[in-house]
Formats: sequence, structure tokens, C-alpha cells
Amino acid sequence: MRETPAMECPFNSSKTPAYYGSYLAVDKLLGLQTPLSLVEGKLHAHDEMLFIIVHQTYELWFKQILHELNACCEVLEKPSADDDGPDMNVVVHRLKRIVEIWKLLNHQVDVLETMTPLDFLDFRSSLEGASGFQSTQFRQIEATLGLRMENRFRPDYYKHTDMGGFNPEDYNTIVEAEKTTSLLQLVEQWLCRMPFFDDSFWQGWEEERADGATTAEPKFWNRYRKLYETSLSERDERADLLGKFDDTLFKAGAGDFPPAALRAALFIMLYRDEPLFRLPFALLNALIEIDEQVANFRYRHLQMVRRMIGTRIGTGGSSGEQYLQGAVNKNYIYKELAGIITFLIERRNLPQLPKRLHQALRFSSTERQE
Ligand code: HEM
Repeated sequence: MRETPAMECPFNSSKTPAYYGSYLAVDKLLGLQTPLSLVEGKLHAHDEMLFIIVHQTYELWFKQILHELNACCEVLEKPSADDDGPDMNVVVHRLKRIVEIWKLLNHQVDVLETMTPLDFLDFRSSLEGASGFQSTQFRQIEATLGLRMENRFRPDYYKHTDMGGFNPEDYNTIVEAEKTTSLLQLVEQWLCRMPFFDDSFWQGWEEERADGATTAEPKFWNRYRKLYETSLSERDERADLLGKFDDTLFKAGAGDFPPAALRAALFIMLYRDEPLFRLPFALLNALIEIDEQVANFRYRHLQMVRRMIGTRIGTGGSSGEQYLQGAVNKNYIYKELAGIITFLIERRNLPQLPKRLHQALRFSSTERQE
């Protein structure tokens, strides 16, 4: 079971009727902004309030994102999660919600950018070693999505407990999050157990073009590789692309995805119009979109930092702009999943699926298992 923060039911805890302010704990919430430049009731750096509120709203939305991500992981952890059933529908729905939240978070940068660098300097020094870099929830999101230490930009720098780093409790929370099976791993396992190359679906399929392959999967991919080669134009780097095709789909895989998972993902993308593939396709698409939105955040944040502090080092002690640029370039999570788009061919040239598989993909999961 994944860790979800303990929540007290507001209705059970008191006999008084529910009331907007008490249900939402508005008083508590509004008491949580304590600007350091507030001295004897006077706020000396006016924009510090904005700075705090913007960060706090990020943290609230991060909490919601983690809530959704953990729920998605719990569904995918079930070996019985059905590709066309309510389970998968819920996962896709929640992932799409995460995409929308990230869009909102990216817009929030505009609000913070109404603060000028001089306004920021009015209180920046009081932040000392505090930095968004230490947002534990942001790190939990990264880890739950599947960003591994080894794949990060400057992993050595990221995880430390010295000045500008994490306090020991947060550090342990992050270590625990990194140990938990990530969404990426669960998606990979789900892709690898896709049953569509079961020989029973493919009997008699394009026998004459089998090229010596006896089982369905190599038969299909041999044929597909030729179609892919034909689809390349004069201007494409033919040898390079075919080399990549073989490497990604049959040898090394790419990033954290083994070849079998990437083949399954490509198959879903190619035949996404089949009714049973609509949800799996939507799931892959949502993951790629989340990655894109997180990357947008990293980029918008970097631009804001340039405007706010130029090339000065961060309060967290990093090189600031340089570090953030490295993270923008490197810290993608589903880039390799998006990368297989390179291997798509035109819909009209796709091999026709065998009748049995085609039928199995038409919302009849019980038939599929027979
Ligand atoms: C005036 C506004 C801001 C400035 C000048 C700023 C500056 C920086 C700098 C320089 C870093 C690099 C680490 C360091 O040395 O401190 C950083 C990291 C970070 N900041 Fe901000 N930041 C601002 C606002 C925000 C906001 C509103 C958020 C929202 C939560 C945020 C979240 C983060 C995160 C998550 C990182 C780590 C990024 C990574 O490691 O990839 N920052 N920030």
C-alpha cells in the first residue's frame, strides 16, 4: 500500500453542522503565511506575501498530483488491471487531470513574474539556504513518475543534507519514494504483458512473407521493418534510422524501457483506432503530455530565474541558471516513449491485422482470453 497522508474526516470530528470555513480550515490556511519581513505588523517587503502564496499553492497542487499518481499506481499494481475496463479508464482520467494541473502551475509563473528583481532583493537574503530545490513533494512526484537518480542532471549535487540540501527527514522521505515501484516501471510491466502477439490470433497471417520467422511477433515486425524502410524519404538518414529501429525495438531498448515494452507501445500507437487500444493509447499519450508539462515548468521556471537573479547562484547553493538549464535538458522521464513516434508509418500502409486479433480488439475481453 502506498503512503497517503492521514486525513481526519471533518464531519466526524465535530457535531456542529458543516460550515464552509471550518470544512476547509480557512482560518488555519490563512494563518500559514508568515513573511520574514513582517516586523511589528508591518510588511517591509510587499512582494514577500506573493512569493509565499505562490509557493504554497504549488505545494497544495503537488499534494493533489501525488494523490492522483499514487491512486494510478495502485490500480496498475493489480495484475488484473483490465485494459478496456473501469480500472484503466480511471487511470487515464486521473493522468489527464494531472496534465491540467501542470498547465495551471505553468501559468502561475506569470503571476510570480509580476514581482521585479528589485522587489525580490528586498527579502531574498532572508531566505538563506531555503530554495524550491528542497520541495520534497516535487522530488516525490519526480520519483513516482520514474525519474531515477542515475538519469538526473548532476545527481551528486541533488541529494545532500548540507546547507541548501534537505533536512534528514525530507531526505529519508525522498529515499523511500525512490525505492517504491514507479509509474514508469508499472507501465513498462503492463506493456510487457500485452497479449496481442499470442499465436492463436495470428495463425495463417501473411505466411508467404514470414522470412523464416515461425512465431507471430517476429513475423509481424519483419514485415513492419520493411514497410518502415520504404516509408523513409531520400532526405532521411536511412542507415541511422534503421539502426535506431533495430537497437530500440530489438536490442537495447531505450532509457528505462526494454525493447518488448517499446514494441508494445508502438503497436498500440499504430493501431490506436482499434476500440480496445483507445484507452491504452490515451494512457501513453497522457504520460508523454505530463512529461512535456513538467519540462515546460522547468523551462518557465528557468526563464523566471534568469529574469529574477540573472546568473547569480541560487539560495540552494547551485550554480542557478546553469544547473536549471541542465535539468531542463536532461530530466525527462518518458522521452523514450515519445521517441518511438520516430518509427511510425502512414496509417494507409499499415499491415492489416489478422481477423481473430481484430475481433479480439473489439471490446470482447472474454473472447480475447478464450
Ligand atoms: C523568485 C522566484 C524563484 C527563484 C529566483 C527561484 C530560483 C531557483 C534556483 C536558483 C534554483 C536552483 C537551486 C538553487 O540553487 O536554489 C531553483 C530550483 C527549484 N525551484 Fe525555484 N525559484 C523561484 C520560484 C520557484 C517556485 C514558485 C517554485 C514552485 C514550487 C520553485 C520550485 C523549484 C524547484 C522544484 C526547483 C528544483 C528544480 C530541479 O532540481 O530540477 N521555484 N529555484
